[in-house]
Amino acid sequence: MNISIFGLGYVGCVSLGCLAQNGHQVVGVDVNKTKVDQINDGRATIVEKDIDAIIATQHLLGRIRATTNFREAILATDLSIIAVGTPSTAQGHLNLTYILSVAEHFGEVLREKDGFHVIALRSTVMPGTCEKIAAMIEDRTGKTRDVDFAVVSNPEFLREGTAVHDYYHPPLTLIGTESERAASIVRTLYDELPAEVVIAETKTAEIMKYVNNTYHALKISFANEVGNICSSLGIDSHEVMDIFCKDKQLNISKYYFKPGFAYGGSCLPKDLKGLQTLAHDLYLQVPVISSIHRTNEIQMQRAIAVLMRHSHRNIGFLGIGFKAGTDDLRNSPAVELAETLLGKGFTLKIYDRNVHTSKLTGTNKEYIDQHIPHLSRLMVQDAEELVEWSDVLVVCTKEAEFVQVLGEASNKIILDLVRIQAEIDPANQYIGINWSQDAAESPAQLTFR
Ligand SMILES: NC(=O)c1ccc[n+]([C@@H]2O[C@H](COP(=O)([O-])OP(=O)(O)OC[C@H]3O[C@@H](n4cnc5c(N)ncnc54)[C@H](O)[C@@H]3O)[C@@H](O)[C@H]2O)c1
Repeated sequence: MNISIFGLGYVGCVSLGCLAQNGHQVVGVDVNKTKVDQINDGRATIVEKDIDAIIATQHLLGRIRATTNFREAILATDLSIIAVGTPSTAQGHLNLTYILSVAEHFGEVLREKDGFHVIALRSTVMPGTCEKIAAMIEDRTGKTRDVDFAVVSNPEFLREGTAVHDYYHPPLTLIGTESERAASIVRTLYDELPAEVVIAETKTAEIMKYVNNTYHALKISFANEVGNICSSLGIDSHEVMDIFCKDKQLNISKYYFKPGFAYGGSCLPKDLKGLQTLAHDLYLQVPVISSIHRTNEIQMQRAIAVLMRHSHRNIGFLGIGFKAGTDDLRNSPAVELAETLLGKGFTLKIYDRNVHTSKLTGTNKEYIDQHIPHLSRLMVQDAEELVEWSDVLVVCTKEAEFVQVLGEASNKIILDLVRIQAEIDPANQYIGINWSQDAAESPAQLTFR
């Protein structure tokens, strides 16, 4: 394929060399004349393992060249990759100056170009940027996105220092687009790579780099805080984290990675508090560990805020245990939610087949006696009766039987805290705690600065 790459920095230079090595004809475009000259002399613009040899060889084979002339490059190619820089502004917003300047070029040149042109945004950009660029191009050219051209998100996952290796061994190839045609063109770029190709909505692909990199920063900070605690106690922190990483079921796994409601139960809150207190007693600052519980409180407030926005007073809880399949109510976030709602004057009924108040014993009973002593009066034995009575249903646990119960509900507000996989009649108003926009206090419209 004939490809143009805008931006000959780390991402652009590696893509230029590797795409050429995979048989494509590639032209690099940069405003920096020195970088353009380097490529045209067969030299890499960056210092990276293996890149010098790749650029030199591909230059000799005549598969790569570079130019400052964006018009010529766009007209000569079918697909353009944008890899210009997206630094932060002093306020922390994204500086889109370079991206928008390239978008202007496309607005100018695509007007006079026939054929379907795909623009793949490899730079890291905020959700909504592809949409903004597409609108700009439509405005300048009179052409229609996904018919005459497409702007797709195709984030780069390489790391400096191992960039060429990472290019050939990505964790996955991600293409964000609503156009099947554009998706199939972009995926041919990566036919030789061993990675799974994931096609997602454009905004989903755009946010992924931020989610990934924030998580990577979190991992490092978490490990450092654990390290600081361990070293103060004379424990080998590397051994601790090596053992931690051996648990592929709960630690290094998909488990616990589902957005939803607050955590609870008899262990997580207690042991988190324990580690936090240990750090405190060692005079150590552990801001990451210390702020975890605050996020949990915010999840609770979020659920309460959704329910407060509706004037209905009859609220039915589907589930009250701290998770499905247990009668353990200790530190169940659903108990705390129920307690708060009762305090605010809502009327509650609760259905949970695992919980029999007469059978509660020990600390479980003590917990309920302290928090909702009259729990037994709120419990109903029949889910249908609960649904019939309620204006609002709150799904607190992922109990299989709730799928059917919710499938039969009609004209209710349903607040789902667990993302239950039920077929919900559209006559209901369904709100997912953090997968529906209407769960937010003020649903956001993205703005660009
Ligand atoms: N560097 C990384 O490891 C890495 C990894 C993944 C993603 N990213 C993202 O990729 C993007 C590029 O990062 P980078 O490190 O390669 O940037 P970089 O600063 O090394 O290179 C950007 C290049 O774009 C050029 N440029 C600026 N305006 C231009 C224009 N109008 N036309 C053509 N070229 C123009 C600059 O001259 C420069 O050569 C960023 O959004 C970054 O966040 C970077």
